[in-house]
Amino acid sequence: MSGLACVVLAAGKGTRMRSALPKVLHPLAGRPMVEHALAIARALAPERTVLVIGPELEADSSGLEGVSEAAACVVQEEPLGTAHAVARTRPLLEDFGGDVLVLYADTPLVRSETLAGLIAARRAGDGAAAAVLGFRPEDPAEYGRLILAPDGTLARIVEYVEASEDERAVTLCNAGMMAVDGRRLFPLLDAIGNDNAKGEYYLTDLPAIVAAEGGRCAVAEAPAGEVMGINDRVQLAEAERVVQDRLRRAAMEAGATLVDPATVWLSLDTRLGCDVTLGPNVVIGPEVVIEDGVEIRPFSHLEGVRVREGAVIGPFARLRPGSDIGEGARVGNFVEVKGSTVAQGAKINHLSYVGDAGVGAGANIGAGTITCNYDGYRKSRTEIGEGAFIGSNTALVAPVTVGPGAVVGAGSVITEDVEADAIAVARGEQRQREGAAARRRERRKPDLAEG
Ligand code: UD1
Ligand code: MG
Repeated sequence: MSGLACVVLAAGKGTRMRSALPKVLHPLAGRPMVEHALAIARALAPERTVLVIGPELEADSSGLEGVSEAAACVVQEEPLGTAHAVARTRPLLEDFGGDVLVLYADTPLVRSETLAGLIAARRAGDGAAAAVLGFRPEDPAEYGRLILAPDGTLARIVEYVEASEDERAVTLCNAGMMAVDGRRLFPLLDAIGNDNAKGEYYLTDLPAIVAAEGGRCAVAEAPAGEVMGINDRVQLAEAERVVQDRLRRAAMEAGATLVDPATVWLSLDTRLGCDVTLGPNVVIGPEVVIEDGVEIRPFSHLEGVRVREGAVIGPFARLRPGSDIGEGARVGNFVEVKGSTVAQGAKINHLSYVGDAGVGAGANIGAGTITCNYDGYRKSRTEIGEGAFIGSNTALVAPVTVGPGAVVGAGSVITEDVEADAIAVARGEQRQREGAAARRRERRKPDLAEG
């Protein structure tokens, strides 16, 4: 959209979360809240995007990968209020003459169509100084209230803590998002003071200043389900439910079967191919790509993995980051795979741990096989060649290689490389004493009589 800049506010203490983690880094559908807000901004294709973060977020950049490309960052050193936060963008936006759309990172469910409506409301007629997004929640709780003038324009916004009983009875609430005429934004912000209950510079004081100057602010209304603010963990859980419902619906609409949608958990970045089936109680964490025709059976947990066409996973499988499961491969019950490549058609069907390994095409990994990838100090790799057969209950002590076509006898502890097409057995040899069991029974008879 031309003539549009987005500002995403992500600083502030987030005290009500009662958390050591900054509020906007709390995950929603597997990704930090702030990433959702930036995705909303991106969908509007603005000319500029500025993210306002607090110093704690700057220090903890772990949650902000990918964000710096999406937006320019400015730091609000002290959380002195939402108007103060927007004012930090002055060096990047002072010359911007279009609409400046302010988004709150703690309100990440709003749809871009709703925001397009807000911008249209600002631009309508001869153009208002600003347009504010309102909504009518079932429980207006502690949201700011929109006080309308008799002509239906916005007279002012009153914060809940400041509101009188009559004002609290108003059901039209402030969703937080605001589109402001960029030419007027910074002079208006300069006029906002902090003489209020919290001693903060409220962005919500802007409409009253416009009205006092004889200007006009418009209101656009949003569906209540889109604009709930996330201030505490109860609201976080409610928002998660909303996001999950949207993701499940979108997945089904795009051609995936969710056998019991309410029990399937997806991430914001989950990519599902066509004719994917997700069984009940499947949890898909971040960075998962599932290609066409894959079946994920019930109670499987996936994160950071690509599952290629036609593979079958689970039930009760755990696929961990850095894994790549090949076309038509099978990973069965109680199998954990981490940091491993499992090539086309390979099978790991039961009770195994495969970590930091390469499993060749068509290889068969017997039940209970463990790659011993960690010696207490460092991780090492296991390479299993194409078509190799690993007998049940084998321990592969890494670093170790089993060549293509090799066979490892069940119960082996493999500490040295196995050559291609060789058979390796590394376990105590079986001894047999004829009649020994019968003799032992005879010896024990008196014990039995006593017991
Ligand atoms: C705000 C609005 C309120 C509205 C509600 C909707 C103000 C003063 N009040 O209240 O009218 O009904 O949102 O959800 O705006 N932030 C900063 N720097 C700061 C303070 C906040 O960047 O100094 C950011 C926060 O990260 C958050 C957003 O601004 O994303 C809103 O701040 P928050 O403290 O949650 O405001 P509310 O009390 O929810
Ligand atoms: Mg809030």
